[in-house]
Amino acid sequence: MSLIAALPHLNAILNAIAAVFLSFGYYFIRNRQIERHRACMVTAAAVSAVFLVSYLAHRANAPILVFNGPNSLSIPYYTLLISHVSLSIAIVPLVALTLWRAFKGHFEMHRKVARWAWPAWMYVSISGIAVYWILYQVYPG
Ligand code: HEM
Repeated sequence: MSLIAALPHLNAILNAIAAVFLSFGYYFIRNRQIERHRACMVTAAAVSAVFLVSYLAHRANAPILVFNGPNSLSIPYYTLLISHVSLSIAIVPLVALTLWRAFKGHFEMHRKVARWAWPAWMYVSISGIAVYWILYQVYPG
């Protein structure tokens, strides 16, 4: 398998790792463990940044796959895909703002934006795995 062909699999793994760190990060802040929360969120952001580079490298070198499954599933699939892509663009400035407010020590403001950023980021990670699963495992071209 070429490096480019391997990237979608790597990307799905990176999404899964980000989702795990997001989950632990949320658990830790609910239990007031701020240092652990910070470590998990910074790690999730680093993993997502690596994902973004890898995703763009793949996009630049491979065609966009069309849905290969039954017609009856094409509307649900494209609904999932469009929600995933649009939120994935929206979370970039949202996550940056969330991190910025945390690093500046503006935790009240941090919490306000984080309550949108966290679920959106989690949705993007999980829906990314679902899109990968459908395209590369369930209905490969
Ligand atoms: C983009 C990355 C981050 C996300 C998505 C995020 C997410 C969250 C969420 C959802 C909450 C609210 C939890 C609740 O419902 O009570 C929260 C609170 C908090 N976060 Fe983060 N966080 C991030 C990065 C950080 C970083 C780097 C720090 C650095 C120390 C931090 C420190 C805190 C603190 C201190 C609170 C409690 C704020 C308060 O209750 O007033 N977070 N975060």
